[in-house]
Amino acid sequence: MKTYKIAAIPGDGIGTEVVAAGVEVLNALAGRDSGFTLRFDHFDWGGAYYKTHGRMMPENGRDLIRRHDAILFGSAGHPDIADHVTLWGLRLAICQPFDQYANVRPIRILPGITSPLRHVNDKDLDWVIVRENSEGEYAGVGGRVHQDSPLEAATDVAIFTRAGVERIMRFAFRLARSRPRKLLTVVTKSNAQRHAMVMWDEIAAQVAREFTDIGWDKMLVDAMTVRMVTRPQTLDTVVATNLHADILSDLAAALAGSLGIAPTANINPERTFPSMFEPVHGSAFDIVGKGIANPIGTFWSSVMLLEHLGERAAAGRLMSAIERVTADSRFHTPDLGGKARTVGVTSAVIDAIHDAND
Ligand code: NAI
Ligand code: MG
Repeated sequence: MKTYKIAAIPGDGIGTEVVAAGVEVLNALAGRDSGFTLRFDHFDWGGAYYKTHGRMMPENGRDLIRRHDAILFGSAGHPDIADHVTLWGLRLAICQPFDQYANVRPIRILPGITSPLRHVNDKDLDWVIVRENSEGEYAGVGGRVHQDSPLEAATDVAIFTRAGVERIMRFAFRLARSRPRKLLTVVTKSNAQRHAMVMWDEIAAQVAREFTDIGWDKMLVDAMTVRMVTRPQTLDTVVATNLHADILSDLAAALAGSLGIAPTANINPERTFPSMFEPVHGSAFDIVGKGIANPIGTFWSSVMLLEHLGERAAAGRLMSAIERVTADSRFHTPDLGGKARTVGVTSAVIDAIHDAND
């Protein structure tokens, strides 16, 4: 029987709560004659590790996980440590060197969940946002001089390369092709940003010529927020820069009911390094330790992990279990307006997995 090695990196805050739930659910799934087993290796990297060791993960951290089949990640973010230190020290320290350049964020209104948008039902909002995950505004290029003096200056330079833009556009067009509507929206800001965003648009148009079966259009990012709210049914697959998609995907999650349900796959399409799966949300300091973190975003990310491993039947079984559970408002956590707790939702999903097999 096939055994997959999964690196579990819960990180900080509610990351530890939802990844524990995710591991439980994945083990339940693998345990039910799925034809494969999972071996989890747990890594205690994050804010607490930083406080002892002065870094978010060991120097050879990536070597310890580079041969795993996939990574299940929680969140990087600790109330006592600056956010740029935690993010760059852990999450981006894995995503960028492992060249997980396609950040894929499906979102739709799951059964039983109500969108804050009036008159919008599950068929009106069914999107996948593709976020460029290796460069752009989060390339990490820049610096500060004359700190704490009146002459202080700081730059964050967005880097866009032809190779980087071409590969994310191709990835997005291919993804759009795999979906029934075959529709891609390219988000841009080429009116104000007249260099890199203009190149982004030009490359989108060039790559589009390889995909004549795909309908595509272009939206300025500010207008895109309006379209997401007022005409959600006109969107399907979306591609945007690192920063734009970061923001748009939080909006998308909120429109689909809660940030707590939204999943992410950080994909290395060439499979030269493992890909990483994580909920969209962060450490959520305001609810940490209360036992009310919604684990659905991590479960849905686990569906994407299984799909990436090629375990389509198990992925389908887990998605059905998630949908059966969200359909029942007794299992809605407070972010969805309910009273359920993380453990209750987790056992309900495990029960649904077992029922489906019986
Ligand atoms: P956040 O996503 O942690 O929380 C935003 C709001 O959504 C909070 O009110 C929180 O309670 C709620 N929320 C988030 N996930 C939830 C869940 N599963 N169930 C119920 N409610 C949920 O974003 P915030 O507050 O901006 O960031 C907190 C920390 O997390 C920061 O240090 C930030 O840098 C870090 N962060 C890390 C990310 C990552 O590692 N991928 C992503 C986003 C933030
Ligand atoms: Mg974000």
